[in-house]
Amino acid sequence: MRKIKPTLRQLQVFESVADELSFTRASEKLHLSQPAVSIQVKQLEEGVGLPLFEHTRKKISLTEAGSIIHRLSKTIRNELEDAGEQIDELMGIQRGRLDVTVTTTASYFTSRILADFARKYPDIAISLDVTNRENLLKQLDSNQCDLAIMGEPPEGLDLESTAIMENPLVLIASPDHPLANRRRIPVEALGDQGFVFREPGSGTRAAILRVLEEKGMSIPITMEMTSNEAIKQTVQAGLGLGIVSRYTVELELETGRLVELDVRHFPLRRYWYLVRRRDKQLSPVAQRFESRVLDRE
Ligand code: PGA
Repeated sequence: MRKIKPTLRQLQVFESVADELSFTRASEKLHLSQPAVSIQVKQLEEGVGLPLFEHTRKKISLTEAGSIIHRLSKTIRNELEDAGEQIDELMGIQRGRLDVTVTTTASYFTSRILADFARKYPDIAISLDVTNRENLLKQLDSNQCDLAIMGEPPEGLDLESTAIMENPLVLIASPDHPLANRRRIPVEALGDQGFVFREPGSGTRAAILRVLEEKGMSIPITMEMTSNEAIKQTVQAGLGLGIVSRYTVELELETGRLVELDVRHFPLRRYWYLVRRRDKQLSPVAQRFESRVLDRE
């Protein structure tokens, strides 16, 4: 009998290719390069001693050996998940409470992360507080939340922060704005436009003003509002331009209700961070949430 000794990593990558029947889609899903995916599958094939995929024109399908390994990888994954759940139970992770605070802008994607977590741990009570950066920093200062998700936290506070994903700030306009169809708009063209900004205390606002200052640019703030939704509506109504996180306008850009302007220096580059107090004793539930967020990237 042939003894096969695949690694868990090989099985995970193989399973993703087999589910998608595409090396490209699997590499996107796994956040890996395509050669990295191919190497894992090739090593697995060498260990098995037979090809696992049949390559025909533009399509791949599983060979018989591939189907056997696909079933094996699913069984192992299910068993590992069951074991993980039992260990969670032993550690007291199945029940408890999680307090997360996120900035207004971060809430556009954190709901998805929390929903995943809630599905996995339905008996954990989750509390999500959404506020602007200034209030969030006050909460961290007075130890009111387990974990926070926000733009880059200030230096000098005793915080531990890890970048989890990019947060591009884009310049938005209504589709019938005179600049909407222009390419490579010079920065000077923004000088006589009105801008709708977030309120003082917003991290997005602070980041924009800081970056513009670094680049020696200044733009006129004609309106201020405390919500991204209000900015989007105002810009859509043609009352000015806005600079917002791309996460807040994904749908509007997709449906053409807003357009992203092509201006030098934009999008401004920022990152989202998972943040906690360095001296915070995280509960097992909060530790599990932290590791799930960090593992995603
Ligand atoms: P805010 O968030 O603009 O909603 O405060 C951005 C950030 O976290 O910096």
